[in-house]
Amino acid sequence: MTSKLRVCQLSEIPLHDMRCVSLPDRNVVVAHTDSGVYVADEMCTHEDARLCDGNLTGTLIKCPLHGSRFDLTDGKVLDDPAEENLTTYPVTLNDGTVYITLPHVPDRKDPS
Ligand code: FES
Repeated sequence: MTSKLRVCQLSEIPLHDMRCVSLPDRNVVVAHTDSGVYVADEMCTHEDARLCDGNLTGTLIKCPLHGSRFDLTDGKVLDDPAEENLTTYPVTLNDGTVYITLPHVPDRKDPS
């Protein structure tokens, strides 16, 4: 089971640009590319750097601090010094609104 979360209006992000968005329980970066819209966790997996302050080339996002690049299509890290992949989210566009699908977190009170 999953849940959908509204992120922003696509019209707020020019093509080939990105921005950070604060959601109730996480901060994400939204990138508007030629091949679609991608949403990933805002922070680099190496240290404390907001990826929306970096550069976007196609679907590759480059960290502003030490230059690691991540592929937004699958979150894969491409360069040192970051070693961990980035968490990305499935994106749905509906009437110009960007939504992401979050994995279901089981209620801890549920007996399992
Ligand atoms: S903080 Fe992003 S590569 Fe170091």
